[in-house]
Amino acid sequence: MGFSEAQEELVLRSWKAMKKDTESIALKFFFRIFEIAPGAKQMFPFLRDAGDAPLESHPKLKTHAVSVFVMACESATQLRNTGDVKVREAALKRLGASHVKAGVEDAHFEVVKTALLDTIRDAVPDMWTPEMKAAWEEAYDQLAAAIKEEMKKAA
Ligand code: HEM
Repeated sequence: MGFSEAQEELVLRSWKAMKKDTESIALKFFFRIFEIAPGAKQMFPFLRDAGDAPLESHPKLKTHAVSVFVMACESATQLRNTGDVKVREAALKRLGASHVKAGVEDAHFEVVKTALLDTIRDAVPDMWTPEMKAAWEEAYDQLAAAIKEEMKKAA
């Protein structure tokens, strides 16, 4: 099933609405991940070494959260254009290697997906519809599949 222009529009429109508030959205996204899977905290070196320091004080949290959002948006655009996710090859290789190194497993991608969808739902409640959820799911799933494929090669 192809990804339609309407689906791309849903993803990009909601991201545009969230973008001005990336700081708090990034934090909520991470809190949700750790709520679902507390053990995932151990994977992030800057959290592992942080002792009891509050999560809010880690600027790196924002970087990962924003990467996931932005890359899912790019994935939506690529899916609509070509029916396939084509993260630049070098970028995909690096993503495969870094996630293997961090000890990320398939199940974590599901956790991150749930946290992503919950975060968007809570950030843009007026826009949220089953169609918007499905569009983000598809964009994320295809991106995650491309990263997982590269992780297999890197393992
Ligand atoms: C690192 C994106 C899913 C945990 C990174 C980096 C990016 C990224 C861009 C920076 C390093 C690099 O560029 O190679 C994504 C995207 C994801 C995703 C787009 C989903 C589609 C996950 C999942 C987990 C995870 C499911 C596990 C909970 C990590 C960790 C690092 C990392 C631990 C290393 C952080 C560090 O050492 O500073 N990710 N990621 N990521 N990611 Fe992800």
